[in-house]
Amino acid sequence: MRKRNRDTIVIAVPKGRVLEQLSARLEQAGIPTEALTAKSRKLVREDKQSGLSYLLLKPDDVPTYVEYGAADLGIVGRDVLMERDYDVLAPVDLDIGKCRMMVCGLPKESLTGKRERPLRVATKFPHITERHFRAKGTPVELIFCQGSVELAPLTGLADVIVDLVETGETLKSNGLVTLDKIADISSVVIANRAGLKLRRAAIEPILDALRK
Ligand code: PRP
Repeated sequence: MRKRNRDTIVIAVPKGRVLEQLSARLEQAGIPTEALTAKSRKLVREDKQSGLSYLLLKPDDVPTYVEYGAADLGIVGRDVLMERDYDVLAPVDLDIGKCRMMVCGLPKESLTGKRERPLRVATKFPHITERHFRAKGTPVELIFCQGSVELAPLTGLADVIVDLVETGETLKSNGLVTLDKIADISSVVIANRAGLKLRRAAIEPILDALRK
């Protein structure tokens, strides 16, 4: 791994819809975000004055960078941590990026009726889905989709989906309804175990500011 400047704190942040809320939350905590919000295709954004460096990543990759120590801290949705095990600490819940992991389907769909075959479930979250239905004792056939998963019940690809619901607009626009809740989701700060020990003096004040 490339040698890191010991004084720089590297924060892995997710590109996408949570970034705006995150910048506001960082600003509130007195953490400069100019480098983060600047219009640019740069994936590393350094704020020389504060010694912070932001990495702009796909949300699913944030814990990987933190686990391997390429970043000291990361911001990620709990859904990502529920879907796969990572050896990271999650010291602060930011109370942003709030949504729900739900089982959804057509209004006529029932999760309780008797079936001749396993329930067919399309999702980007196979492990969460498998765990949920195993706990319920419902046999399922999982169909992995990368996105636009709402299409699956509409086209007959699957009976139901497991997906994130934030405003409910996507479900409504596609004639789907929620059938069961799996979990409440929000964004959390994650930390590299060794990094937190080695750079505690620089990292703790950031965590404290974000806890407030
Ligand atoms: C997410 C999620 C839903 C939608 C829910 O998809 O998978 O499709 O947002 O948001 P809403 O309740 O506010 O409508 P995203 O926009 O990330 O795109 P994707 O379908 O490609 O995953």
